[in-house]
Amino acid sequence: MRLTETADVWWKNAVIYCLDVETFFDTDGDGRGDLRGVCQRIDHLAELGVTCLWLMPFYPTPDRDDGYDVTDFYGVDPRLGTHGDLVELIMLARDRGMRVIADLVVNHTSDQHPWFKSARASRQSPYRDWYVWRDEPPPDAEKGVVFPDKEKSLWQYDEQAGQYYLHRFYRYQPDLDIANPEVREEIERVIGFWSAIGLSGFRVDAVPFLLDTSGSQDAADLPDPHDYLRDLRAFLDRRHGQSMLLGEVNLEYPDLRRFFGDEDGDELTMCFDFNLMQRLYLSLARNDPAELVKTLRERPDPPEEAQWGTFVRNHDELTLDKLSDAERQEVFDAFGPDENMQLYGRGLRRRLPPMLGNDPARLRMVYSLLFSLPGTPVLFYGEEIGMGENLAAADRQAVRTPMQWTADPDGGFSTADPSRLPAPMVEGEFGPQNVNVAAQRRDPESLFNWLKLLIVRYRECPELSWGTCTVLDTGVASVFAHRSDHDGGTIVALHNFAPESAEVSVAVAGTGVGVRAVDLLTDGTADVRDDGVLSLDLAPYGCRWLRIVHPGDRYLV
Ligand code: NOJ
Repeated sequence: MRLTETADVWWKNAVIYCLDVETFFDTDGDGRGDLRGVCQRIDHLAELGVTCLWLMPFYPTPDRDDGYDVTDFYGVDPRLGTHGDLVELIMLARDRGMRVIADLVVNHTSDQHPWFKSARASRQSPYRDWYVWRDEPPPDAEKGVVFPDKEKSLWQYDEQAGQYYLHRFYRYQPDLDIANPEVREEIERVIGFWSAIGLSGFRVDAVPFLLDTSGSQDAADLPDPHDYLRDLRAFLDRRHGQSMLLGEVNLEYPDLRRFFGDEDGDELTMCFDFNLMQRLYLSLARNDPAELVKTLRERPDPPEEAQWGTFVRNHDELTLDKLSDAERQEVFDAFGPDENMQLYGRGLRRRLPPMLGNDPARLRMVYSLLFSLPGTPVLFYGEEIGMGENLAAADRQAVRTPMQWTADPDGGFSTADPSRLPAPMVEGEFGPQNVNVAAQRRDPESLFNWLKLLIVRYRECPELSWGTCTVLDTGVASVFAHRSDHDGGTIVALHNFAPESAEVSVAVAGTGVGVRAVDLLTDGTADVRDDGVLSLDLAPYGCRWLRIVHPGDRYLV
C-alpha cells in the first residue's frame, strides 16, 4: 500500500496515549500536575512512540467526578494552566509528530455550570430546556443507574426547580437535552472552538447516553439521534478534514456498529472495543484464547477508514459488564479476588501488572497482543512502565495515581506535601522506588523498552492496522495465532496464553520454497518448510511477530 494513505487516515494506525494533566507532572509545586508539566515531559511520549495524545478533561470543574463534571466547555481549569499553555503543548506535540485530542463531555454538565444554575432557578430561563425535566420520575427511573453504589435513580428532585431532572451519572451531573436544537448547535460551537485552537479530535464521553432522547417528552416525535452524530461528524470534517471522533460506546457489537455510521463511516471515526477487552481478560484468566478468538470472529469490520480503539486498561474500572455472572466471577477470582479490588459489582479497580502478578513474560505477551490485534492501541499513562494501583485511594482513583518519573518517594511528580496530591502515590512493590521512568529508560529489558519496540514495529507494519485479520489453527489450545494481510504483505503473530512452553506448526504460505519468516521482535528468523508450514517453539507466555518474506520481496526487515 502507499504509506501516504496511512498518514492521511492517521487514526487508523495511531498510538494513542491517555493522560490526566492533573496527575502527570507538576511544575509549580502546588501538588497538581499542569499543562506546562505535560510540555516538560513531551519527549518521554515522543521516545515511547506516541502519535496521539488524549487529554482527559482539563476544563473548569468542581472536580467531583475528576473533571467529567464541567462548568465551562470553553475554558481551561486555572489550576492546570491557561489556553496559552494548551496551545504551547499542541505546538510542542506537533513538533514531535503527535496530535492532541481531548475529552468531549457533553452528555451532561456539572450542576454548578451557569446553564444549570440558570435553568434550575426559573422555568423562564433560556437554559431551562437545555436539560431534561419532569414533574414525576418515570416508572423505570431506577433502570440503568451507572454508579449503583452512589445513586439509586436517574432522576433527582430539585427543590429550586420544583421538578425532577435526568442524570445518567452522578446527581451533580444533570444531562443536557440533545433533542434541543440549541444544545446541538452549542456542542458544534464547542468542538469548532477547540478544533480552531488546534485539537485533532475528541474522545466523546458516553455516546449512547448523549444520543439517548428517551428521557425527553414527546421522544417519539424526535429525529433519529444518529442524524445528529452524522451532522456533528460532517461539521468537524468541514472545519478540519483530518479530525476524528473516538467514541465511548460500551454496547454489544450489533448495536455498536451503528455508531460508525454507514458503509463509508459517516458517524464516529473510532469506537473503543469494550467487548474484545473483556473477552481478553476471560481468556487470560483461563490461559486459553478461545473466547478472544470467538469475539474476533463475531466482531464486525468497521468501515474502511474507521477503526476500533483497543485497550487493556483505561482510567475507569476494568468493566466486565458484558460477561455472564459466572464468567465475571472467573476473572474476579483470577485477577481481583478481594472485595476491595472490585467496583460496582461489575469491574476491577486495578492496573494490569498487579493483576498478572507482575510476571514480565505475561505482561509482554499482553502488550504484544494489544499492538498486533486489529485496532488502534490506546494506552493509559503509566502502563508503559507497568505502574500498579493504590487500593487505599477512593474507588476509581486507585488507578489514577501520580505518574512515577523517578525513584524518589514522590516519584519525581511534585515537590508539594503528599497531602496535596490529587491521589496518593502507589506504595510497595509498584511504588516509585521499583517502578519509574528514569530506571526503565536505562534498562534494555524494561517494559518501557519492550513497548517502544512494539510501537516501532507496529508503525512500520501497516498490515496490522489496515489488513485483513485471520485466525490460524495452531493445534495447541493455549496458543493464539493470527495473520494480517494487506497489499501483498503478511504478518503472522503468535501468543502463548499458558505458563508452559509450546511447539506449534502453522500454515503461513501456499508453498514455502525460499520463504522465510523474519522475526520482528527478537532474533528468531526461521525458514518456512516447502509445504508452507512454519514450526516453532514458544516460551511460557511467549509471543512472536513474523513477517513472511517471499523470494524477491523488498520489505524493511
Ligand atoms: C465516562 C468516563 O470515562 C467516566 O470516567 C465518567 O465518570 C463518566 N463517563 C461520566 O462522565
